[in-house]
Amino acid sequence: MTTNTAAAPGTTPQVIVLDTGGQYCHLIARKIRELGVYAEIRPSSTPAAQLSGAKGLIISGGPCSVYDEGSPTVDPAIFSMGAAVLGICYGQQLMALSLGGRVRKGEKGEYGLAFLEIAEGANPLFAGTPARQQIWMSHRDAVEKVPEGFRVIAGTDTCEAGAMVDTLGRLYGVQFHPEVVHTPAGRRILSNFVFSICGCRPDWEPKHQIPAIESRIREVAAGRSVFFFVSGGVDSTVAYTLCLRALGDAKVHGAYVDTGLMREGETEYVKDVFASLGSHGFAVEDASTGFLRALSGVCDPERKRHIIGEQFVRVQEEILERGHFLDSQWILGQGTIYPDTIESGGSANADLIKTHHNRVPGISELIASNRLVEPLHLLYKDEVREIGRELGLPGDLLDRHPFPGPGLAIRCLCSESSAPVERLGPGWLIPVRSVGVQGDCRTYMPVLSVGGLDHDQARRLINEYPGINRVVAAVASQAEIPEMKVCPSDLSAQRLARLRRADAIVRELSAESGFDRQVWQFPVVLIPLGTSERPDSVVLRPIHSVDGMTAQSVTMDVELLQRMASKLLRVEGICGVFYDLTHKPPATIEWE
Ligand code: XMP
Repeated sequence: MTTNTAAAPGTTPQVIVLDTGGQYCHLIARKIRELGVYAEIRPSSTPAAQLSGAKGLIISGGPCSVYDEGSPTVDPAIFSMGAAVLGICYGQQLMALSLGGRVRKGEKGEYGLAFLEIAEGANPLFAGTPARQQIWMSHRDAVEKVPEGFRVIAGTDTCEAGAMVDTLGRLYGVQFHPEVVHTPAGRRILSNFVFSICGCRPDWEPKHQIPAIESRIREVAAGRSVFFFVSGGVDSTVAYTLCLRALGDAKVHGAYVDTGLMREGETEYVKDVFASLGSHGFAVEDASTGFLRALSGVCDPERKRHIIGEQFVRVQEEILERGHFLDSQWILGQGTIYPDTIESGGSANADLIKTHHNRVPGISELIASNRLVEPLHLLYKDEVREIGRELGLPGDLLDRHPFPGPGLAIRCLCSESSAPVERLGPGWLIPVRSVGVQGDCRTYMPVLSVGGLDHDQARRLINEYPGINRVVAAVASQAEIPEMKVCPSDLSAQRLARLRRADAIVRELSAESGFDRQVWQFPVVLIPLGTSERPDSVVLRPIHSVDGMTAQSVTMDVELLQRMASKLLRVEGICGVFYDLTHKPPATIEWE
């Protein structure tokens, strides 16, 4: 192990981000780590005594107002414990209020791009950045009077205290968000804080962590063996590989549950990956018959998800019991990564848009009795990829698009009844409902099909017609749209096979053209719209995203779109090809 590696788990990071419940909290920690300095997240109210040793503290932005009852606070002692402190947005307001300044409660907010003017005179926080620069603002309240001994060092037209510093140059506050890409000098500002002001030294490179992670796995396992459920995704595969290296092949077992809802060739792909790892304790469990039986005749998206969740629990329990993996000489391995370890306060009370998680009772028991090893629990996704690369895992595996646990089931839409297509505004209302999200609430509404490929028009139409949450463009079809109708259809083996083929065609063409590298994810959806000979249609849903929370529909090259469409229309049973023009919000990425 090289000497410039970070603190092993459990030791003090150089920078600690105090989480006040903002969505940007993980982004801040990730940006600091990208600068080569190890950062971790703690609850904002962590007592100063538990933070000693950190060279820098960053108080994150948060959704609350400092005047809200029960809003997050910090221990005032953090301002005099010797560490440099940077308050961002809500963090700056909290700093101001704690030290005797005043915060003005805003009626309407300031969201989006603004221009920051830096005050005259050298200032280490803004060193090397323009005197007037673009920044990203997202706030309602603002600092009205800085605490005694502080001075304002930057401001915008509408926000006088855009940034402030104390006399000693150890406490800084900024109203804008340096951690987001829309603040172009943000990286430099954070780097100034971390290196010039806090005096941190580079100590973080994920791949150097491998030996420490492996020795931690051995410590936790303490002679016992590890059992994993793997998905074929990046996290579980990297975590499994680390355990294999740490404990040896004989002590690591894994199971992949084939639900029958996977993409074409997926089970073979996963088998090949694990064979190439030299893992002998890896098995595929074919559970497809049970899954398909349980889902037969079910149309409602949430019921589908629940049934899939329950079926997973049943199969996992059975595997654990059959293999005696709950016995005392076994512990459970999981590929949990840092954002799942630390759930930021912001998401705690979110409306249920879609059911994602389910718990196996046997697994809960293992967790409760501390028989759990999570080798990646302090790492971000990009860091996991870097470690995977260092371990020699195949590049195509590490760069795979995310794929939802319930698989093709949530991309194969069903209908209980038949319904005609109807005229609506400039297009046709397709009576197939899909899930959306508006103002943090779930919607479930039909789709409007239009002729053009215009994203702006799509946005306008959704505002204009409150009964829809999605707009698609009709790309090509074997019948005129008004001749098509929605027919009763469920999650049959035949329809799944149809979707699997369509998905494979799209994947092949997007890989060939390099389009797959321009998108974050590319769901292909089957909807029960067509004619009696060709009862289904395909929807293409290429999107850009950072974390799946929000997403933009990606503009596709027309020639590629046409090539895909003409191949798709040759698939048995496919009548039309549509292209989803809707961003998230108001639509979700998946249709169910
Ligand atoms: P939505 O459709 O909610 O999707 O905009 C956001 C991201 O989450 C993925 N997704 C899932 N992932 N289990 C998963 O592991 C699920 O049940 C699930 N549902 C959606 C989706 O593919 C997208 O990346």
